[in-house]
Amino acid sequence: MKIINTILEMQAFSSLRRKAGKKLGFVPTMGALHKGHLELVKQAVKENDVVVCSIFVNPIQFNNPDDLKKYPRTFEKDSAMLNDVGCDVIFYPSVEEMYPEPVTRVYDFGNLEKVMEGKFRPGHFNGVAVVVKKLFDIVMPQRAYFGEKDFQQLAIIKALVKMENLDVEIVPCPIVREDDGLAMSSRNVRLSPEHRKHAPRIYETLVKARNMFPVSTVAEVQKEVAKIIENEPFMQLEYFEVSDLETLEPVSENKPGKSVIGCIAVHMGDVRLIDNMIFNL
Ligand code: PAF
Repeated sequence: MKIINTILEMQAFSSLRRKAGKKLGFVPTMGALHKGHLELVKQAVKENDVVVCSIFVNPIQFNNPDDLKKYPRTFEKDSAMLNDVGCDVIFYPSVEEMYPEPVTRVYDFGNLEKVMEGKFRPGHFNGVAVVVKKLFDIVMPQRAYFGEKDFQQLAIIKALVKMENLDVEIVPCPIVREDDGLAMSSRNVRLSPEHRKHAPRIYETLVKARNMFPVSTVAEVQKEVAKIIENEPFMQLEYFEVSDLETLEPVSENKPGKSVIGCIAVHMGDVRLIDNMIFNL
């Protein structure tokens, strides 16, 4: 497995492989890898000739400086894990390499960036879009793999690809969960043992909401979710939305035949966790 730190070397590597007719699969990450990331890489290995994974803690997508400072950085462990699952290249640039000049690009994703994560983390999706566009230009993949845990991020990236006419297939991959249901996340390691014990309640609440959905109004489901989380001693609910699968607009009525998605964000101490689940009638 190769480790590449510069944009020029990464572009030269990808150009050569593409000229040789190879299919490049790409998994962008911020490191602190867990089994969820490794599933993305394994799928990319199955579907492509060459797999590149980037590790870059992107400062411009953090609206909370403390969150950026505390973001786990575990490069040695990450690279060993990537090597084991057959990744060919880690693209591991510095902040100066990625952003030699201040970033001025401002995307307009309309409502998609104003709801849920967009509402509570201003500027976050612009930072994600800027870095993903840059990474696509550098790595030049034919396919890129993203987890459905960050469902809104996935929607933003699909919109970015359309907006910029990028020739990259976006491959969504299902949420990977711990045995107790907690969605895998790089932030889970920051939970205290007590908080970690309670954290699967988020998943259990989503399951309850999904089961209620066919026989309840959206308002009843929302009320129940708020009640469960508020009664949890270590949790503060930031939002729970029932949203349209495509536009992510909040849905107020359940219509037969239309799937929606329940999205939740919860604070446990200084750790913010998100999760989601598709609800069908
Ligand atoms: O999902 C992430 O880890 C990040 O948002 C991404 C897509 C790597 C961009 O920094």
